[in-house]
Amino acid sequence: MTNAGRGPTRRLRAWGCLAVGAMLSALWLLWLLGPAPGGAPAPQPPVTILIWHWPFTDQPPELPGDTCARYGMAHCVLSTNRSLLASASVVVFHHRELQTQRARLPLAQRPPGQPWVWASMESPSHTHGLHRLRGIFNWVLSYRNDSDIFVPYGRLEPRSGPAPPLPPKSRLAAWVVSNFQERQRRAQVYRQLVRHLQVDVFGRASGRPLCTDCLVPTVARYHFYLSFENSQHRDYITEKFWRNALWAGAVPVVLGPPRATYEAYVPPDAFVHVDDFSSPRELAAFLTGMNASRYRGFFAWRQRLRVQLLTDWRERFCAICARYPYLPQGQVYEDLEGWFQA
Ligand SMILES: *[C@@H]1O[C@H](CO)[C@@H](O)[C@H](O)[C@H]1NC(C)=O
Ligand SMILES: *[C@@H]1O[C@H](CO)[C@@H](O)[C@H](O)[C@H]1NC(C)=O
Ligand SMILES: *[C@@H]1O[C@H](CO)[C@@H](O)[C@H](O)[C@H]1NC(C)=O
Repeated sequence: MTNAGRGPTRRLRAWGCLAVGAMLSALWLLWLLGPAPGGAPAPQPPVTILIWHWPFTDQPPELPGDTCARYGMAHCVLSTNRSLLASASVVVFHHRELQTQRARLPLAQRPPGQPWVWASMESPSHTHGLHRLRGIFNWVLSYRNDSDIFVPYGRLEPRSGPAPPLPPKSRLAAWVVSNFQERQRRAQVYRQLVRHLQVDVFGRASGRPLCTDCLVPTVARYHFYLSFENSQHRDYITEKFWRNALWAGAVPVVLGPPRATYEAYVPPDAFVHVDDFSSPRELAAFLTGMNASRYRGFFAWRQRLRVQLLTDWRERFCAICARYPYLPQGQVYEDLEGWFQA
């Protein structure tokens, strides 16, 4: 600032600034327009993710080139075109179709060094034949939080704007169950609970099936929803928690992994855990004795957070894209079964 009065210096400085500015703009333009011929490295080709068999269907969805860009992940292409096996950056195999033999591993055609991903959102209790898959896969995509590509069934995200009001409640507790088996722990807990508590049961197993779009509005009228997982395994928290309860606006009463696992994803006062009580009778007393202010406390998180469901397989597969640069090279799951059962 000491030179403020000396005109020529100031002008020179001004020109200097302009020149630097122009150079920066030129560099910016060059960067935008791509590398100069023979200069900087060529742009990376997009990562091609080949899905060998679309989960649970022979009719995969349309996969336009911008599919992953729609989920905020550009520079990746999802495809089910098996002709791309030789050139794909990574190939994904969904377990159910390997288990039912509707898809087979193209081991003989596998290009050397091509990473293969094992994908499944089912629990170990419903996953069979893993012993046949030793030493084949490099990466795992699943709900397990130590997966190479971790895809939970849902998550809480910061909310922008005010929370919508809670749906009005007229009933106490609901449960939707399509596959009721007495040997499951959830069946035993339910049997004991209903001795002390009115539970309205819906779903195929109850004779009161709900259409896909009816579940959420039906559950919304209830104070509590029994988010009972069909089996209890590490990290196994499904749409029964994220969609049927939190998204619908009912308080989840959970039976699944330990409380600490849920607390890794949601605030501790957002749910009721079956293990918090020494008996189903105590749990029933807690639920029926609830007052309005205590009940509202279960939803404190809604002021600043909202539920994001991750139910679409396109989004799950595109998650590979975001992780791709960081995935461990040269890794092989020699004992996939041992890892998954742990
Ligand atoms: C699959 O990919 C091959 C090789 O790129 C291409 O020739 C063929 O047209 C594609 N098939 C479909 C159905 O897109
Ligand atoms: C996975 O979850 C467990 C608790 O279930 C936690 O101790 C661990 O730190 C988590 N790991 C990662 C990588 O998030
Ligand atoms: C509501 O229940 C909570 C917890 O059981 C208790 O601390 C609180 O005093 C009760 N509030 C009213 C107004 O009864």
